[in-house]
Amino acid sequence: MDFISCVTSRKSIRAYKEEKVAKDKILQIIETAGHAPSWANAQPWEFNVVAGATLEKIKELMEEKILNREKPNPDIPFPTFPEEHQQRINEFGKSLFTHLGLDKEGKEKRVQFTIEMHKFFNAPAVIFVTMNKELSLWSLFDLGLVVQNIALMATHENLGTCIQASTVSYPDVLRETLNIPENKNIVCGISIGYPDEKSINNFISNRVTAASLVNFFGF
Ligand SMILES: Cc1cc2nc3c(=O)[nH]c(=O)nc-3n(C[C@H](O)[C@H](O)[C@H](O)COP(=O)(O)O)c2cc1C
Repeated sequence: MDFISCVTSRKSIRAYKEEKVAKDKILQIIETAGHAPSWANAQPWEFNVVAGATLEKIKELMEEKILNREKPNPDIPFPTFPEEHQQRINEFGKSLFTHLGLDKEGKEKRVQFTIEMHKFFNAPAVIFVTMNKELSLWSLFDLGLVVQNIALMATHENLGTCIQASTVSYPDVLRETLNIPENKNIVCGISIGYPDEKSINNFISNRVTAASLVNFFGF
């Protein structure tokens, strides 16, 4: 796939085929993604890749948390947004729910969606990205770069991904199951697998135009 197609065709995949992703393929994706730049080449990222019975156990525990209405307590607190950005978020949520017909459905269906999201949309594997808690916000910036590389590499391999903050809502579940020490921040999960043909994957999110975001000087 050419580079521009890779960048523009990447989108969040929220339904996956059962087909497994080979361990070697995931390792090769992470190896290539690791060419990302980072502050003085610190490479502050670490990965826990989970599949099979371990992933099933995490899914079970996640569902329990949602059904018990446990308050999320992510290592990196979830943000609030200024009005302008919150508006984009609201538009995104509304258009995704309209696409899924969930705007007309009752609360129960929306809770079901939340559960599916916390169960990684049934992806056969999830890459949990962690970093040492002593690192600064700059390292979080670096993690963003490597995570995007993973998403692009996956697209290149005809795989789909969904970068998910929701997957780290209950870090105690991941800490216990994956033996992640207290001194690591669990930053996000990347669900990865072969995209299913389900309609949810036809959803395309909007973008504001570059012209509305850019100031040029001296041209
Ligand atoms: C840091 C981060 C956290 C995200 N968390 C979630 C999530 O919890 N659930 C989800 O369905 N999508 C999640 N997404 C995906 C975004 O909703 C998605 O990237 C955005 O709407 C743009 O759509 P696109 O990825 O299809 O281009 C997340 C993306 C990022 C970068």
